[in-house]
Amino acid sequence: MKFNPFKPNSMAGPGMFSGRFDELQTIEKCLFQTRHGNPQHFLIEGERGIGKSSLLLFVNALATGTVAGLSGGSYSFLVISVDLSQCDTVSRIVREIGVGLKGALSERTQLKEKAKAVWEFLTNWEVLGVRYHREEVNIDEGTLASDLVHSIAGTLESSKGEMDGILILLDEADRPPEDAQLGAFLKLFTERLQRKDCGNCVIGMAGLPTLIPKMRASHESSPRVFETMTLAPLERHESSSVVEAGIKIANETNPIQTSISPDALELISVLSEGYPHFIQQFAYCAFEADRDNSLDATDVVEGAFSENGALAQLGHKYFNKMYFENVTSESYRSVLNAMARHGNEWVNRKVLIEEANVGAFIVGNALRALTEREIIIQDSSRRGYYKLPTQSFATWINAIKSVEEKAGKDAVFRGNAEAD
Ligand SMILES: Nc1ncnc2c1ncn2[C@@H]1O[C@H](COP(=O)(O)OP(=O)(O)O)[C@@H](O)[C@H]1O
Ligand SMILES: [Mg+2]
Repeated sequence: MKFNPFKPNSMAGPGMFSGRFDELQTIEKCLFQTRHGNPQHFLIEGERGIGKSSLLLFVNALATGTVAGLSGGSYSFLVISVDLSQCDTVSRIVREIGVGLKGALSERTQLKEKAKAVWEFLTNWEVLGVRYHREEVNIDEGTLASDLVHSIAGTLESSKGEMDGILILLDEADRPPEDAQLGAFLKLFTERLQRKDCGNCVIGMAGLPTLIPKMRASHESSPRVFETMTLAPLERHESSSVVEAGIKIANETNPIQTSISPDALELISVLSEGYPHFIQQFAYCAFEADRDNSLDATDVVEGAFSENGALAQLGHKYFNKMYFENVTSESYRSVLNAMARHGNEWVNRKVLIEEANVGAFIVGNALRALTEREIIIQDSSRRGYYKLPTQSFATWINAIKSVEEKAGKDAVFRGNAEAD
């Protein structure tokens, strides 16, 4: 038995984290400005699995001084890390941040002593919050927000000269429903911080690409408060460094050393097209498939293809519904395969007729049915143009095709997927 370092189902720790230099540079600049009293809030958007939470985790390590900045600088922020996925109202959001502040304080005994008044206030607040919640009384949102600002100001005041400031990280920020009015709240919150002279408090948030439109719907100018970054897939060499870093971690833990061949590294990079969650999944399964402590391309293919292998796992998590369950016709799937070769670019119907090899009539029917089932998107401004909703869906389809060719056993994967 060997420890497998790859994490297809959880965030990458700083030890395996690769790439994101531009983003980290920008975020470090935001932290630096905040240290000097001019907070620059930031927002990270990107598809599911592209690495938003892992980036926030790395930023947490950067802000607390666990890892050094790109230019060698070191930071000491108090970090409040909040997951907004369960927050359906403003008061829930505010309370989560308050509870997060209390949690962060409790980890710093000295600061907690100094900010005793804040600590006690938050303790009462929490109790109050629970009671109100139970009795389903609506607490006035404005009061809650100003209580929070008050607590943050108190903490900053008590810690003057000892830390750089407070960093509030909001993950899954796209999840609160539109009527939770996150955009309006953040606008109000940042303005109040400013008025209270809390220049050392900065907000960083992450969410799906739906986040910005949602914020805008809540308050037109709220996205402008944030410096925005869109996460793209990793570069080839960055994908390889993820895998190499993982093998290094494995070799530090396991008495038996594992090596990886250049073509295995190459194959993982190619199949994953730089999608971090694909890299982790392919690498994890290849590591499991390996029998001789030397990971090669055959292990990658076997790991990808085996019954509960990488492609099946990715399918279960993201794509089976779109590719298998909602598309029962083999010829419709051929249309999806042809589209996948174009990534998530717009493709003209004529091109698909040439490339899908199933006849114009079937392509027409497939495009109509797939659009209706919201599996593909139709261009509203041009006739006859369609695309897949995400690049990662295209990557997954391409990987299935490519692995099928490599393994030369066409029916196996499909059989597995239909069996569940
Ligand atoms: N920069 C990175 N380096 C290495 N692995 C990463 C990186 N970013 C993400 N991952 C891995 O990719 C997967 C998805 O990452 P996650 O941060 O949860 O994405 P998101 O929050 O965007 O859905 C996880 O398995 C994680 O370990
Ligand atoms: Mg996430």
